[in-house]
Amino acid sequence: MERTLSIIKPDATRRSITGKINSMIEEAGLCIIAQKRILLSELEAEEFYGVHKERPFFRDLVKFITSGPVVVQVLEAENAISLYRKTMGATNPKEAEVGTIREAHAESIEANSVHGSDSAENAIKEINFFFEEKEIVG
Ligand code: CMP
Repeated sequence: MERTLSIIKPDATRRSITGKINSMIEEAGLCIIAQKRILLSELEAEEFYGVHKERPFFRDLVKFITSGPVVVQVLEAENAISLYRKTMGATNPKEAEVGTIREAHAESIEANSVHGSDSAENAIKEINFFFEEKEIVG
């Protein structure tokens, strides 16, 4: 079994579609084994998205992800990382396949409703960023 970190972003919490997104996650065969609704501080957001700090969209990304509550989750399945990336669809919703979360719900490349870890190494780092082991019930 593999774990991945998911974030349901402020555009989705604002529209009260976290339940719809969770349904798509569970229907894809991913088990939600930890979940909490939090408000990220600017410092936390800068640290979490640190790999993007040289990108032109970094400041806007930090502003957006701190603009409202997010739901952070740990998802578990066989090949959870690639399965969740397939379930989310492409970063840019215009390129996302039909039936994916981003195709169904994302507003733009920035307000794209969900984040998922992109590698096994980052999944561990990102899960540890938000959760203690005792909060994860597999
Ligand atoms: P996420 O998977 O959370 O990781 C970084 C985020 O940057 C990405 O999703 C997008 O929502 C956001 N982003 C904003 N603008 C861009 C862009 N031009 N290219 C790629 N990602 C972008």
